[in-house]
Amino acid sequence: MAGIDYSERIPNNVSLADNRRLQRALEEWHPKFLDWWMQMGPEGFQAKDVYLRTAVSVDAQGWAQFDYVRMPEYRWGLFLAEPESGRTIGFGDHMGAPAWQDVPGEYRGVLRRLIVTQGDTEPASVEQQRHLGRTCPSLYDLRNLFQINVEEGRHLWAMVYLLDAYFGRDGREESEALLQRRSGDRDKPRILGAFNEKTPDWLSYLMFTYFTDRDGKYQLASLAESGFDPLSRTCRFMLTEEAHHLFVGETGIGRVVQRTCELMREGKTDDVRRLGGIDLETLQKYINFHYSVSLDLFGSEVSTNAANFYTMGLKGRFEESKKKDDHRLKDATYTVSELVGDRITTREAPALPSLNERLRDDYIADCQRGVDRWNQIIKKHGIDFELRLPNRGFRRAIGLFAEVKVSPDGLVLSEAAWDSNKHAWLPTEADQAYVQSLMRPVTERGRFASWIAPPARGVNSQPVDFEYVRLA
Ligand SMILES: [Fe+2]
Ligand SMILES: [Fe+2]
Repeated sequence: MAGIDYSERIPNNVSLADNRRLQRALEEWHPKFLDWWMQMGPEGFQAKDVYLRTAVSVDAQGWAQFDYVRMPEYRWGLFLAEPESGRTIGFGDHMGAPAWQDVPGEYRGVLRRLIVTQGDTEPASVEQQRHLGRTCPSLYDLRNLFQINVEEGRHLWAMVYLLDAYFGRDGREESEALLQRRSGDRDKPRILGAFNEKTPDWLSYLMFTYFTDRDGKYQLASLAESGFDPLSRTCRFMLTEEAHHLFVGETGIGRVVQRTCELMREGKTDDVRRLGGIDLETLQKYINFHYSVSLDLFGSEVSTNAANFYTMGLKGRFEESKKKDDHRLKDATYTVSELVGDRITTREAPALPSLNERLRDDYIADCQRGVDRWNQIIKKHGIDFELRLPNRGFRRAIGLFAEVKVSPDGLVLSEAAWDSNKHAWLPTEADQAYVQSLMRPVTERGRFASWIAPPARGVNSQPVDFEYVRLA
C-alpha cells in the first residue's frame, strides 16, 4: 500500500500521521475492509455517484461536507470529540480520578469486549441492509440508506481505531474478526440477536433505524460517559451521526403513516391495501416486532456484568453527568419488573445490577415520543386509531420475560392463547408478502412509492426532487 497518503485518505484528528504503529495496522486492515465493503456493502450501487456527507473534522464546518461520492471511495475517517481538559471519571469506584488516557490494565479484557460488542453491530447493519437499494421508494430514501451505510462503516472504523491503537495484537485480531462474522450466518453470526435478523423490506428498515439504531444511541451515550477517555470521545462523535439514522427512522415511519392516512381519507376506506398503502394494523405489527427485538439488546433485568461495567468506571448511565446522586449507587435501589405467578408487577432491587433495566427504561420513554408524534399525524387526519408500544414483556427472548408469553397489553398467556392470537400481533407471512409486493423501485427524480409520502424537505437544503443518486 505504499504511496497512499493515509492522513489525506483517512481524514482524522487522532494524529495518524505521527503514529507509525497505528498507520501500519490500518494499512493492513484497510484493504480487508474494502473487500468486505464490496462483498457485503450496498449491492448494485458501488459505481454510482451518491450525494453524501463526509466528516473531515469535528468542528461545525467540517463534520458534514456534502458532495457526490462513489461509496468505495468514501473517506472513512477517524474522529474523536474534542478533549475536555481535566476530565475525571464520573462514576463508580474510581470516581473523581483523572479519566484514563490509556487502557487500565486490570480492565483490559472487559473493555475490549465492550468495544468489540459495539463494533460488531456496525458492519452487521450494513450487511442486513445490503439488498435494499434495489427496491428503494425514491432517490431521496436511497441516498439516506447509503448515508447510513457509510456511516455505520465509519463507526466500525471508530471501534477498530480503539482496538488497533490501544489493544496491541489482540486488538488487531479483533479488528479482523469484525470483518469475518456475518449477519445471520449460522457458523459465524454477529454477536447480538437483533443484528442477525433479516431486513427484508423498506418498512423493516425504517423500523430498524427507529428502534434498533436507537438502542445504539443509548449504548453509545452510556459509553460516552466512560472513564476510558478515548472511548468516551469516540462515542460522543458517533452520536452526532447516529442522530441522522434516528431521523431517517422517525420521519420515515411518519411518512408511511402520513401516506396511509391520506389514502384512507381520499379513498374513504380502511382498506388501504387496495390503494397500495400499508394499513395501520400492519404498521402496528411491525412496531411490535422491532420494538421487542430491540428491547432484548439491553440484556437481562438483573446483570452482574452491568454492575461491574459501572463500578469499574467503564460504562455509565444515560446522561450520567446530569444525574444528582452519588454516582456509586452501592446503597441505591431501582424499580424493576417482576413476575409473580402470571402477574407482571414491579419490585425494588439493588440499583447496580439493575442498570440494564434503567437504560431500557430511558430507551422506552424515548421510543414513546416518536409514537406520540405518529399518532398526532393520525389524529390530524381525523382517524380513530392509536399506535402503541407493546408491553415490555411482549415477545422477549432475553431476561425475565423469556420464559413466558405476554400479550401486547401485558397479560401473561398460556401457549395456546398465544398461538391463537399471535397472528394479530406480529407480521404474518401474508403481511410480509404484501409489504414485499410493494417493494418496487422508484428512481425517477421527485417521485415516491405509493406507500410513503415525500419528506417535508430535502437533504442539506436541496430540493426534494434533487438527483440524490446518479443512476445513469
Ligand atoms: Fe452505528
Ligand atoms: Fe446507526
